[in-house]
This record gives sequence, C-alpha cells and structure tokens, in this order.
Amino acid sequence: MTHKPLLATVLGEKQARPPVWIMRQAGRYLPEYREIRTRAKNFLDLCYSPDLATEVTLQPLRRFDLDAAILFSDILVIPDALGQSVRFEQGEGPILEPVTVETIAGLGKERAPLDHLAPVLETVRRLRAALPAEKTLIGFCGSPWTVATYMIGGRGSSDQAAARLFALRHPEAFARLIDVLVQTSIEYLVAQFQAGADVVQLFESWALNLDDEAFAAQVIEPNRRIVEGVRARIPNAPIIGFPRGAAGNLARYAAGTGVNALGLDYATPLDFAAQHLPAQLPVQGNLDPLRLVAGGEQLDRRIDAIVSAFADRPHIFNLGHGIVPETPIAHVEQLVRRIKNG
Ligand code: CP3
Repeated sequence: MTHKPLLATVLGEKQARPPVWIMRQAGRYLPEYREIRTRAKNFLDLCYSPDLATEVTLQPLRRFDLDAAILFSDILVIPDALGQSVRFEQGEGPILEPVTVETIAGLGKERAPLDHLAPVLETVRRLRAALPAEKTLIGFCGSPWTVATYMIGGRGSSDQAAARLFALRHPEAFARLIDVLVQTSIEYLVAQFQAGADVVQLFESWALNLDDEAFAAQVIEPNRRIVEGVRARIPNAPIIGFPRGAAGNLARYAAGTGVNALGLDYATPLDFAAQHLPAQLPVQGNLDPLRLVAGGEQLDRRIDAIVSAFADRPHIFNLGHGIVPETPIAHVEQLVRRIKNG
C-alpha cells in the first residue's frame, strides 16, 4: 500500500478528494520559470542541465499544494537523442530537420540514445531525493505516433498531414521509424523508473485525425508494445496514457494498451466518459485550460462538475491539455484550493 495519493489513484484506489497535478505545470506562466529559462542557452540545454531542470520541476510545488512533480523535459529529446536536428525557436515552437526514407534507415545507429539522455535521468535521481514521501514523481515520453508527426513534418501542424501521408506511402520506412521509437521509449522509461519515477505518462498529443484503422495501427499498437516492454522489465509499472483527441476510440485505447489510467482531453464529454469507460478505470482530467485563464465563477462551477462526474471512480484532477502562459497564478491557487477543500 502506497502513501502517495496520486500513485495510489493510478493503481485504482479512489481517494476522498481527487489528487491533482497540472499538465505543463512548470512553464512560462511562472515568473521564476522565465527567470531560470534566461540562464540556459536554449530550451534543450535547460532539459539537459540537471541543476536547472530539477529546480524548474520543483517550482510549481513550492507555490501550490500539488500531489505530483513531473520531470521537466520534452517529448522531443528522443529525436534529438536519435541524432535528428531539433531546435526550439522563441514563439515558433519546435523545428526539426524532417526525416526521409533514407535517413530513417540510419536513425539511432551512430550513438546510444540513452547516453545522450543521461542528464535527464540524473534529474530524475535528484528529484527522487528532493521530493517529500507523499509526492508522486511522474516521468514521461511522447508516444511514437506523436513523436513521429514532428520527426516527419518537421514542426507542429493542425492536421499531421505529412506524417499521415508518409505512413500510407512508405509503410516500411514508417514501420521502422515506429520500431525505433518503441524500443528507445521502452529503454528510456525503464531508466526513468530505475532512477526513481513512480509512474510515467505516455503523451499521445495527436491521437486525433486518424481513421479507426490508422488509430489501431499507429496509436494503440505502439503504445501497447511500450506498456508490455516496460512491464517486462519493471513488473506492474504504473502507466498513464493520454491519447488527446481519441474521442470514440478512448475505451478501445484503454483496453488495447493496458495502461492503468486514462487521461481525458477537455473535449471529452463528462457523461460520455462516465457511461462508456469501464466503471473502475482510473481517469485523469479534464478542465479546459482556458477556463483557468478566465477564472471566476465558471471555473469553480466546472471544477465541481468534473469532480462530481468522476466521484464514483479513481480520479486524478488535471487540465485537459497543458496550462497556457497567459494563466494568472491566482487562478491556479483558486483551482487547487477548490480541489482540496471542496
Ligand atoms: O508538464 C511539465 O511541466 C513537464 C514538461 C513538459 C514540457 N513539454 C516542457 C515544455 C512536458 C511533459 C512536455 C510535453 C510535450 N512537448 C508535448 C506533449 C504535451 C502536449 O502539450 O501536447 C508536446 C507536443 C511537446 C512538444 C513541444 N515542446 C512543443 C509543441 C513546444 C512549443 C509550444 C510551447 O508551449 O512553447 C514545446 C516547448 C516546451 N516544452 C516548453 C515547455 C515549458 C516551452 C518552451 C520555452 O520555455 O521556451
């Protein structure tokens, strides 16, 4: 039996009040984050500096009574570790040199990706040592399809057309890319558990825009292989899956991948989730981040609606996607107070 309420909830134990963390809880809405960010040469450098990354991870827990810390890093450290060129431009988001059928063949052959990620694992060890016993430490990686959309498209896009077409036109190269991502992600997550993570989250941020056949092949199967591969090394490893936009595929995703808990985006109707997901399946979510920007009475009302919709099952309160830089700190305080005190 664990004394960490958030981990216990992932493992299926309902709490009197839902534990809470916030996707992207370390980030630009915090002035202390922006200050540390100026000390790193660039964003990836921040991810690879254990001193700075540990500090940034802990910042939101100093301000708010959150139940978990999430490792400060990014899903795109894996393409970087595989040797692809990855840059983050202010105001533009990530920019990658797109992979091709030819470059996919050589991916990850020139260096051991885990060696490149050693500083991130050092951050996990330092966090483990620094965190109070009741706080859950969350590790993560991007799911293969989501990471592949950036590797193939070279940047974020609203429809992932480049990756969807590539998968259809070059099925063998695409399968090799997914295999490399599955294997690297398994090794990376196992190493995060060994360094002290309590639970990991698989970020499938682009689980939308896929027909059911592509969803089964590109989303369910690679995530299932990661869950299986991690648990072969870390028995019963606790895993949260967040397939953003999965909509009608949510129940299939949960059953097919074997994740312990299911992250819900904010467009998932509360009554749909209550009726269509297995009764005891732990869920996480799902406040619209813009409600947290606007604040006021609508925020309290929606928090209460989410808490009561999931009152009969294990529930972790979270946003339905990452917190945005415009979010007032006072509204985050209001949120956490409301969750903790009712
Ligand atoms: O949640 C946390 O606090 C942990 C840190 C974390 C970051 N990115 C830090 C970050 C996590 C878990 C991520 C995941 C991530 N990264 C996802 C999946 C979640 C999601 O939002 O859908 C994705 C798609 C990425 C890729 C990525 N990284 C994008 C598209 C961007 C640019 C958009 C933006 O918000 O600027 C990033 C950059 C990034 N990752 C920042 C942070 C704090 C901002 C960069 C900066 O400070 O300059």
